Amino acid sequence: MIIAVDGPAASGKGTIARALARHYQLPHLDTGLLYRAVAATVQRMELDPSKEADAVAACGFDDLLLADPSLRDDETGQLASIVSAHPLVRAALIHRQKRFANQPGGAVLDGRDIGTVIAPKADAKLFVKATPQIRARRRHTELHAHGSTLSFDKVLADIRARDARDSGRSTAPLVMAPDAALLDTSFLSIEASVQRAVALVEDRIRQKPAAG
Ligand code: CDP
Repeated sequence: MIIAVDGPAASGKGTIARALARHYQLPHLDTGLLYRAVAATVQRMELDPSKEADAVAACGFDDLLLADPSLRDDETGQLASIVSAHPLVRAALIHRQKRFANQPGGAVLDGRDIGTVIAPKADAKLFVKATPQIRARRRHTELHAHGSTLSFDKVLADIRARDARDSGRSTAPLVMAPDAALLDTSFLSIEASVQRAVALVEDRIRQKPAAG
């Protein structure tokens, strides 16, 4: 079974995807980390993230980098949304994601284009959203817990900028797949969001005609 979880920054998609992976005992890939690793490599190599060739040169990052906690910081998220808009960067990372999605037994992937590009035939697709203010509050709390001193207003502005870039790009923009189920987590606790996500996946599986 393949489960695709898409949505904007701090919508809760990562937490939901991890919980679904635990629930269904499936491997999970946070695809945002791949773009964050490209962004961090661009920065370390002192390249220009807005230049496609520079960003492509950073796609051969060392996989050990994926475990680096600094990938989660706000600046890397902003840079990730710049490098991820380049079609050749997306092309360089697509096979790895498709391979993960299509492994025997299935998988859960979260990102921006899982239900539309990476796994268009996923058995269940969720699109997770929440208001920008609520997402900024969550991200602000999370960043502060890790020692950041960024103001709430800066985090909100960054979230809005990233939303605009991710939704406005021409290749694989952040859009809800027509066959995705919408999950608005604005007023839901983590526990309630996960329960709702499991219920939506169960609905989808029941509706899907048996293969073969
Ligand atoms: O965790 P958060 O939602 O803040 O971000 P993320 O999922 O780690 O993604 C960081 C950036 O990578 C996003 O703003 C997107 O620009 C990009 N991304 C993408 O283009 N496609 C994906 N499948 C996942 C992330």
